[in-house]
Amino acid sequence: MTTAPFRIAFFSAQKYDISAFDSQLPNDITAEYFTQPLNEISVKLAEGFDAVCCFVNDTLNETVINALNEIGIKLVALRCAGFNNVDIPAANHCKMVVVRVPAYSPEAVAEHCLALILTLSRKTHKAYNRVKENNFDLNGLLGFNLHNKTVGVIGLGKIGSAFVKILNGFGANVIYFDPFAESELAKPVSLETLYQQSDIIALHCPLTNDTLHIINEEALEQMKPGVMLVNTSRGALIDTASCIRALKSRKLGYLALDVYEQESELFFKDMSCEIIDDDVFQRLLTFPNVLITGHQGFFTQEAMSEIVATTLDNISAFRLQQPLENQVS
Ligand code: NAI
Repeated sequence: MTTAPFRIAFFSAQKYDISAFDSQLPNDITAEYFTQPLNEISVKLAEGFDAVCCFVNDTLNETVINALNEIGIKLVALRCAGFNNVDIPAANHCKMVVVRVPAYSPEAVAEHCLALILTLSRKTHKAYNRVKENNFDLNGLLGFNLHNKTVGVIGLGKIGSAFVKILNGFGANVIYFDPFAESELAKPVSLETLYQQSDIIALHCPLTNDTLHIINEEALEQMKPGVMLVNTSRGALIDTASCIRALKSRKLGYLALDVYEQESELFFKDMSCEIIDDDVFQRLLTFPNVLITGHQGFFTQEAMSEIVATTLDNISAFRLQQPLENQVS
């Protein structure tokens, strides 16, 4: 007897997702790839499927979860670590299983964080353009050493720990704030001390009710003048308007972002021929000491392979009714 294949609707599917997943799908799983993000409107595309596979900017609020439940979806396979975009109580209420990829490559994000810091401090993005035009003037390119600098890490989980290991190699003095984790890798301090002492502050905590806009006016006021702030975690950890004010007053010396609170309107697509309506984002781009990448911290070959393998393992465990080690609801 042959059983019907398990049908998965992929949302927010990019070319690289399609090529990575398609080559690894087992024979008894079929996939349909939708470029649209999952939301209240696109949810009807999931009709006739057994599961949906989603990414960071797909909307899985109560309305979408209920709509998925009504059309018989029983599994949400997130192909990312963060699940702040999922209404977990709503999923629990309709017994919908949500699985994720908790750690595909903490080093990928940690190394990207370091790339942002070094680019901003050594201004290699500016130097690249200058040399392309035979401009070898060094004025305006003065950087600073990481050696002996105090780096404050907020959230010392998998990515934070990978980041600290790299910084220890640079001879930086690393301090951290994490109410739920302890580590020998760096010195624990209060959030207030971290703000007061750090030359560089890196955010590696998840987005929760407690961490929403953790970097606000009050936090910025406590920081050293000229501090560098790096966010590779989730956009809404930062109150962007406060950061813009701090950049204008020169309190914030450098800002590096791989994530942005309103990124779902912009990131993961080519907007180069579009007019961008987001004035806050456009203002950020005007500062010479702001560096933004479009949520690419995870994007390495190693991390993509791990995302595919773990997502397919999660789906297989669900089908075989085996224990789900990566379940979040
Ligand atoms: P993790 O769960 O291993 O570590 C998070 C740490 O934050 C934990 O130690 C936790 O105790 C701590 N934490 C929780 N609340 C806190 C608070 N109020 N203040 C300080 N620390 C707090 O997670 P992991 O894998 O290290 O990922 C961290 C975040 O990175 C994810 O939540 C996700 O938002 C982001 N991320 C970004 C990626 C990108 O491509 N830019 C890719 C993957 C994850």
